[in-house]
Amino acid sequence: MVHPIRIGALISGGGTNLQAIMDACAQGRIDGRMVFVGADVAGAGGLQRAANHAIPTFVVDYEAIIRQYRESSGKIAVPPDFDLEEIRAKQHLFGPGTESSRVAAFLTTRAVAEMHLLARIAPFAPDLLVLAGFMRNLTPYFIDRFNTDPDAPRIMNIHPALLPAFPGVDGYGDTFRYGCKVGGCTVHFIDYGEDSGPIIGQRCFPITEADSLDSVKEKGLAREWELYPQCIQYFAERRLQVVTMTHTIGHGAPVKRRVVKIAEMV
Ligand code: GAR
Repeated sequence: MVHPIRIGALISGGGTNLQAIMDACAQGRIDGRMVFVGADVAGAGGLQRAANHAIPTFVVDYEAIIRQYRESSGKIAVPPDFDLEEIRAKQHLFGPGTESSRVAAFLTTRAVAEMHLLARIAPFAPDLLVLAGFMRNLTPYFIDRFNTDPDAPRIMNIHPALLPAFPGVDGYGDTFRYGCKVGGCTVHFIDYGEDSGPIIGQRCFPITEADSLDSVKEKGLAREWELYPQCIQYFAERRLQVVTMTHTIGHGAPVKRRVVKIAEMV
């Protein structure tokens, strides 16, 4: 017997994935219920979709926090348990060559925003957090406080490309401009890097001469609306297991990589 899970979502935009997940919950395709929707921007269209389903919403205004940091030359109240050097050492969002002050500004402002996110999320006690078009990278500050068991990650993201190809902010655009003949989308658990965490599921579609960037996005979104609910249902069924494998991938030395196994239904 599967217990319905409590799902929270973070969004930045129109929320068509959020809609697909809420619909799947309502239709019993996900054994779970959406308990809150948060956004990083007040105008996110998905907030209205949540309100239409009587789901509580909140906004943590990232831009206002970033502005405050800039205007006060970095003098901003950080969370009491924030250790910049600890987070800097853990994160994989920036390479070693990146200017130190830029990394510090990023990690500090995000930790302030993430402190607010954690405070708003806590009362809802979600089992799973889904990023549904949330255009902000979460840092180790947030991830470690939400993923209290490192062997049981519980923050999922959907990305508009066949990872590990085309991480970043414009997956379909990058796929199309590169001249790929196949596009796709990926659902994965997040880790300390950008779109680099263990892959749960992927869907693909052909790209032909007749396609435009708009039609690629259309095809991709239609796959996303199927894939995300299915991956969330695997989680609800407790079928996702993250294991560490040591492999050689491409050239170079063997690396440890966390991968997701999907157990058979019992
Ligand atoms: C989706 O295509 C999703 O894959 C993408 O944003 C879109 C959100 O659409 N996410 C990212 O690019 C995350 N880096 P939606 O608001 O209609 O669900």
